[in-house]
Amino acid sequence: MQEIQIGILGLGTVGSGVIQILTQNAEDITNRTNSHINIKKVLVRDIQTPRSVSGSFTLTDKPKDILEDPDIDIVVEVMGGIEPARTYILEALHQGKNVVTANKDLLALYGHELLDVAKEVGKDLYFEASVAGGIPIIAALKQSLAANRISTVVGVINGTTNYILTAMAEQGRDYDEVLGEAQKLGYAEADPSSDVDGLDAARKLAILSSIAFNSRVTINDVHVDGISRITADDIAYASELNSCIKLLAIAKHQQDGLEIRVHPAIIPKSHPLASVGGVYNAIYVIGDAIGETMFFGRGAGSLPTGSAVVSDIIQVTRNIESKSTATINCTCYNDLPLKKSDN
Ligand code: NAP
Ligand code: HSE
Repeated sequence: MQEIQIGILGLGTVGSGVIQILTQNAEDITNRTNSHINIKKVLVRDIQTPRSVSGSFTLTDKPKDILEDPDIDIVVEVMGGIEPARTYILEALHQGKNVVTANKDLLALYGHELLDVAKEVGKDLYFEASVAGGIPIIAALKQSLAANRISTVVGVINGTTNYILTAMAEQGRDYDEVLGEAQKLGYAEADPSSDVDGLDAARKLAILSSIAFNSRVTINDVHVDGISRITADDIAYASELNSCIKLLAIAKHQQDGLEIRVHPAIIPKSHPLASVGGVYNAIYVIGDAIGETMFFGRGAGSLPTGSAVVSDIIQVTRNIESKSTATINCTCYNDLPLKKSDN
């Protein structure tokens, strides 16, 4: 049986979920991969901080302990932010390691660069957890829907704002109080203004659009407006119209280019996305062959996000075992013009 050694960068909400899943489902994962996946080392900022998860791994505050360890096959980056995460991922790839990351901030700006480097060095770079928590939307767009010309991707892809808007609409709760709760539950970003200002959804939409339209879209191409100006009166007004307010992420491939935007929208309660409440996310996709299809699930949190990260670890493990060169890089890109959004 193959032994796969992993090093994890970060032991917060997502890192803890990854360790919990790899530990509690170890037997099933071993059976599915014919490999034993061992967590060798975990990087944190402060090794003195008491941790809620434990194991036989070594806790370190020195990145080179993981990045330069010749036994480590897969580096799992769940620390977040642009730097030093970008440098660590590049170093891991150059050291001949495969990488799994949940870092949408980084991918929405430097994803194409990182994928190019992964391709150059012949290593895998997987990032299912970067969009919509546990929902397997990246794999779906890359593989299951690859036969289609995708025209539309519309989603509720930020759990924190959906949690806030749902609690305000259904329980009449106060915006700040619900945001505090979303932070305690581990849904919000380290800086929650990323969630409420729409940037987190915009980053995810840049990643989804790049894959769906086989193009190079970054966060800078997305028109963004968040929910911080939505009041209880706005929500009551929408309800009077038998509608609700959702933070929508919308990407359309039209004849004259791509239209990519994130903003709050009033949608009728009969719309499929209206019933997506709380921390749930949903992504509605239209492809020329499949027609309409929708993906639904928990969009944030320790275990749902850990599920996506561990599924990537399993896929990379299978690739290592089969000695496959199956990277998920796009080999060529369409040069699609970006339309200016009018709202
Ligand atoms: P988090 O709870 O803030 O945890 C971050 C972890 O990384 C902490 O253990 C921290 O160490 C460590 N870390 C951060 N910077 C470091 C540095 N410079 N050197 C060493 N260690 C460092 O974050 P999270 O919620 O787990 O999110 C992690 C990533 O997953 C982010 O990219 C986020 O956007 C993404 N993500 C999160 C969710 C979610 O539901 N939370 C869902 C999807 C994707 P200390 O513990 O010592 O501070
Ligand atoms: N802060 C993000 C959200 C985490 O609320 O959706 C999941 O990406």
